Amino acid sequence: AKKGFIFDLDGVIVDTAGFHYLAWRSLANELGFEFTEEQNERFKGVSRVRSLEILLEIGGVEATQEQKDKWLVSKNEEYLSYIEKMTEADILPGVMKTLNYLKSKNIPMALGSASKNAQPILKRVGLFDFFEIIVDGNHVQKAKPDPEVFTIGADELGFAYSDVIVFEDSIAGIQAANSVDMVSVGIGDAEVLHEADHNFKDFTEIDTAFLDQLINA
Ligand code: G6P
Ligand code: MG
Repeated sequence: AKKGFIFDLDGVIVDTAGFHYLAWRSLANELGFEFTEEQNERFKGVSRVRSLEILLEIGGVEATQEQKDKWLVSKNEEYLSYIEKMTEADILPGVMKTLNYLKSKNIPMALGSASKNAQPILKRVGLFDFFEIIVDGNHVQKAKPDPEVFTIGADELGFAYSDVIVFEDSIAGIQAANSVDMVSVGIGDAEVLHEADHNFKDFTEIDTAFLDQLINA
């Protein structure tokens, strides 16, 4: 059967995971506690609202909804200040080679991201017109590890879930893909993402032979 590909955005196509981390760490420091990169693994793929809840849990901070709403705004403002400076150069190494190869094979591609900032980021790095379908944080009710972001993408691309391949850098995203029998490809630390069907440190390790293997499986 023909295959469809779905790509996560943050930490897969662009290096924004670090920007999210910096912005959450600023808030943690402002509230008087540390926030490590290791703790940040739990935040990958997780919605903004849920991320704040986890951060406040880590810091043992209780707050009113009004205060939380202010922190959500200030975190996003700091994040956007990093995003504003992005260019095509912020597309992660090897990504364009993979995307262009799949496009040359007429493989349908979608974006599946929890981010509400996905569209402006794609525009900044010149990839907005690249994906047939964009499913982002503005479209979904249920966050990863719920597979909704990917099932909407697969439905819109017109593929059975088992004919879809998902590229993800987050544990939650790998679990989301696995839960509906999509093929999961982990991008990042193979130990962290051990639940994935395939693991690569980054896209420079992915060659056309592997892509052909996925396409022809
Ligand atoms: C992605 C990132 C998360 C982020 C979420 C929401 O899934 O991996 O770290 O919290 O998107 O992003 P947003 O841009 O809407 O705050
Ligand atoms: Mg991600």
